[in-house]
Amino acid sequence: MQTPQPLFLPRRMRRLRRTPGTRALLQETRVTANDLVAPLFVRAESGPPDPVPSMPGVHRFGLDDLLKECVELLTIGIRAVALFPRIAPQLKDPHGAEALNSQGLIPQTIRAIKQECPALQIITDIALDPYTSHGHDGVLDFEGNEVDNDLTVNSLAQMAVITAKAGADWVAPSDMMDGRVGAIRKALDGAGLIGTGILAYSVKFASAYYGPFREAVGSQSPAASGYLDKQTYQLNPANSRESLQEAKLDEDEGADILMVKPAGPYLDVLARLRMQTGLPLAAYQVSGEYAQIQAAAANGWLDLKSTRDEALLAIKRAGADLILTYFAKDFARDSS
Ligand code: PBG
Repeated sequence: MQTPQPLFLPRRMRRLRRTPGTRALLQETRVTANDLVAPLFVRAESGPPDPVPSMPGVHRFGLDDLLKECVELLTIGIRAVALFPRIAPQLKDPHGAEALNSQGLIPQTIRAIKQECPALQIITDIALDPYTSHGHDGVLDFEGNEVDNDLTVNSLAQMAVITAKAGADWVAPSDMMDGRVGAIRKALDGAGLIGTGILAYSVKFASAYYGPFREAVGSQSPAASGYLDKQTYQLNPANSRESLQEAKLDEDEGADILMVKPAGPYLDVLARLRMQTGLPLAAYQVSGEYAQIQAAAANGWLDLKSTRDEALLAIKRAGADLILTYFAKDFARDSS
């Protein structure tokens, strides 16, 4: 066969991809362990870590094992953890009073981590759902129909001060109440906690992807049938303009970092927000995103590591500076 004449193309894009060296040189986005935050589930009971069935590789830790995990994470390059408590059912009530116990599970855990590994940054979740008997993120109104915004904000501001005093570096309101960022900033400053930052879950959608997390913290009320509906406070997945407004309000109220959650299904929102704000952006690759990849990999339908790496890279490329992900430890281990 005769060699055909080359096409005379002004630009051949494949020159940019010819060798591993070229590709590495031209790579626009990279994920490193330093970008990742590991969410950790903590419980009061001692004993070996118990696995979360819908999240292979994720466990609920008693304090001793949690501390070991923290040391290990720091050693492989993870700089921050986000703590989530599994609260015993007998400590829950409709108001989530246990959230305001300064000797509770989370404040105690924070103090212990800060003693064991002071360099590890701690992010505490500010919302009432692990503590309420109904599983909502706030206090219900008088009729018990809806989450009462202003009453809830009052509790959240106290909760933020309690966890900040215990040593949290960042408080992360994940409740989606109006005005909570401003109220939390005011409460922190009023208590002299000017160095504690606010990582605001600014753009949090009413998502089906939180299912495995609710199993892990036990926040799905046993009385509730089906998936708990949080649509009166979390964002409608259909709305991106509204989500930008939420982010703008949090920025104006003094948030230090803005977060989008879930991450993968909302990359368009993340990219738009990247253009709107000069603040650092976080994204939360949530439990359901993790479970999907794990489940497909367990069936042999997807390659675990390359799918994981691609999903994280996509979140970074869309505009996230930091990513909360249940893959943090495995990713850091593989890249260290
Ligand atoms: C609740 C909270 C949720 C998550 C983090 N904080 C669940 C919810 O809003 O119902 C979800 C995290 C995940 O799915 O990994 N304040």
